Amino acid sequence: MSETSPLLLAFESSCDDTSVAIVDANYRVLCNLISSQPEHTEFGGVLPELASRLHMKNILYLTQRALRETGLAPQDFSALAVSVNPGLIGSLIVGLSFAKSLAWSWQKPLITVNHMLAHIFANFLEHPDIQAPFLALVVSGGHTELVLFHDLTHFEILGKTLDDAAGETFDKTAKLLGLGYPGGPAMDALSTQGDPGFFAFPRGLKRKGDLNFSYSGLKTAVLEYLSRQGAEYIAAHKADIAASIQQAIIDPLIAKTCACAKQNQIKSILLAGGVAANSALRTQLAAQAASIQARVYHPSLSLCVDNAAMVAAAAIPKLLAGAFATLDVNASSAKGTRIL
Ligand code: KG4
Ligand code: ZN
Repeated sequence: MSETSPLLLAFESSCDDTSVAIVDANYRVLCNLISSQPEHTEFGGVLPELASRLHMKNILYLTQRALRETGLAPQDFSALAVSVNPGLIGSLIVGLSFAKSLAWSWQKPLITVNHMLAHIFANFLEHPDIQAPFLALVVSGGHTELVLFHDLTHFEILGKTLDDAAGETFDKTAKLLGLGYPGGPAMDALSTQGDPGFFAFPRGLKRKGDLNFSYSGLKTAVLEYLSRQGAEYIAAHKADIAASIQQAIIDPLIAKTCACAKQNQIKSILLAGGVAANSALRTQLAAQAASIQARVYHPSLSLCVDNAAMVAAAAIPKLLAGAFATLDVNASSAKGTRIL
């Protein structure tokens, strides 16, 4: 690892985590500080205005701490990187405005990054040797996408959800089961004690060859199922119901990802986004992929959450290509992996 590898200072503020990281161009993380916002828990979801204010409170403090902990100074950085979409617009603007002011006052180039691409590139922080072509399964609170990368900068979206995202489905069905917010981690934990074959909830868009996803039918089916059962029955079988819902969410993800990998002769599959933390998805996808001689990569749990090291990782190809943003660049809340 070269000591002289260019250094990036990166910022992430697209939702309710403020993060500042320092990463070199070999994907080596020197620091990755995250300040999450438990203040939203009592509201059962993220309050955008509150999130923006907390980002404003945290971002300067985290940057000062990152510089202090690494002993680095402004002149040590080759560029600054920041996520600019998708996300909560107010939250994104805080990170972007902060990065722009530093870029201007330190006279450094600015690199803008798509937050979903950053989730995919989180995999390179622990596996810098991953080679293209590879297939990425992006599963988060707002996205469900199958993205085929021909190389690090050329990619195409081969499948996506037509309605709810996988994470959103975890959250909404967990809420119906009374598991609180965000529901994904609670469903994951409870499902380990349940039988995934207890009840056969519907799997969306089962048609062979269709790489898109649909979860609105499942959500309705869960609602109808729960309204047909008595409270006592639900309480007695909560883990079985949770495991059955989880299996209905992850089955199409696994089947379509492996079908797509096989069709395109892909040997590396990268899991990305908050739902990449799901233990059943990780295990079952790895087993299924092995049967088509493909390997599954996923970030460690700490890198599945929103963090600035992944923003830096996604900025590296742009740094090497000299693809810098001008200071009039804007943030955008528009969904998708493609938009930059
Ligand atoms: O990528 P992310 O942090 O935020 C977005 O950009 O949306 O993903 C958050 C989503 C939430 O829906 C949360 O319930 C889900 O990821 N999630 C999980 C798990 N951990 C987080 N879903 C299933 N199993 C988990 N272990
Ligand atoms: Zn995210």
